[in-house]
Amino acid sequence: MKKYPLEFKVNGKKYSVEVKPNMTLLRLLRSLGFTEVKSGCEKGDCGTCAVLMDGEPVNSCLTLALQAQGKEITTVKGLGTIEKLHPIQEAFVKYGAIQCGFCTPGMVITAKAFLDKNPNPTREEIREAISGNLCRCTGYQKIVDAIEAAAKKMREGR
Ligand code: FES
Ligand code: FES
Repeated sequence: MKKYPLEFKVNGKKYSVEVKPNMTLLRLLRSLGFTEVKSGCEKGDCGTCAVLMDGEPVNSCLTLALQAQGKEITTVKGLGTIEKLHPIQEAFVKYGAIQCGFCTPGMVITAKAFLDKNPNPTREEIREAISGNLCRCTGYQKIVDAIEAAAKKMREGR
């Protein structure tokens, strides 16, 4: 199958690659080494493959790589650093919102996009926001606790 040129950025770094038209963004990101973007259902059901595309959350398994032309992709690793975690990442650790961790990259990305739009959400709104992200371990309570705490911290500018 013919390949097409694609230029895009991931976590601030520019990439120029050639991809087949049927390659998904998920497969491309993982092949470039961004294995923090998890492959779950690959059908749009679980949300663990979520990344930000120009600030908007997308399921990368349902996004063709070529749709990223000229766009800026942010994975969970692009949100903070080991030395300085993003407040959402910090809260997930602090509140025990991570067990096996498989859902965590997508949860954190979804939470980031959500809090950017709604910095002072109710717990119900948080539950609604993460309803497309499945977690088989935590029962969601601690995830909601973490997002609520991160929102507070972000509002206070800490
Ligand atoms: S792997 Fe993309 S939604 Fe499940
Ligand atoms: S922590 Fe295991 S799937 Fe969510």
